[in-house]
Amino acid sequence: MITQTKFFEIFEEKKKKRSLFTKNLVPGKQVYGEKLVNQAGVEYREWNPMKSKPAAAIMKGLNQFGLKPGDKVLYLGASSGTTVSHFSDIVGREGMIFAVDFAPRVVRDLVSLCEIRSNIAPLLEDANKPETYRDKIIHPVDFLFQDIAQKNQADIFMKNVEMFLKKGGYCLLAVKARSVDITQKPGKIFNDVKKFLRDRVEIVDYRELNPFEKDHAFFVCKKR
Ligand SMILES: C[S@@+](CC[C@H](N)C(=O)[O-])C[C@H]1O[C@@H](n2cnc3c(N)ncnc32)[C@H](O)[C@@H]1O
Repeated sequence: MITQTKFFEIFEEKKKKRSLFTKNLVPGKQVYGEKLVNQAGVEYREWNPMKSKPAAAIMKGLNQFGLKPGDKVLYLGASSGTTVSHFSDIVGREGMIFAVDFAPRVVRDLVSLCEIRSNIAPLLEDANKPETYRDKIIHPVDFLFQDIAQKNQADIFMKNVEMFLKKGGYCLLAVKARSVDITQKPGKIFNDVKKFLRDRVEIVDYRELNPFEKDHAFFVCKKR
């Protein structure tokens, strides 16, 4: 039986193991081979925590997530749209996701996804240069998420938060320790990022993502 979680438009089924779902905005269409389940005339898409860091963070017991129907979202590191597609289910037809990635190969797939999901706008841009896409995004946005493997990922995150997020808006950051410094212990890197963020935003939740994603941490913050 699929039931509502404490988060808007995120659902779960508890059998032998727990599974997460979002309601499919485009019934009958899969995005990355995920399972589709019909219950009482509603189609749900399984949200795989092995392929999506926000789903992994929720499986790790996250208490705050912050994304809601109708939100305008800036998504940095969209890739071909696995997680973007679930955000698209959650924000629904009244919401909008500006999905940024700088790799032409993945943005091609993202463009195909946007053709069937009209609440996603693809942007082939470098998240490290927010001034280059400032005029392409209706801002301030309500919610910002970043998942990019870059050495200066926390800096990139804050530049975008400062430029695009409304006051009081949620900003979520997935940190890949090995991209920041392969020689340091992940725990030390996560602590450094925590200190950096604490001075700039309010950290309201934090999870490490193992065993779903090795050496990754997930911060949920709010702009002051
Ligand atoms: C781990 S993948 C993202 C996966 C995606 N968030 C998901 O869950 O479906 C990281 C992505 O970040 C992109 N990326 C890395 N650095 C970037 C930058 N400076 N600007 C924009 N995209 C970047 C890469 O091209 C890659 O597609």
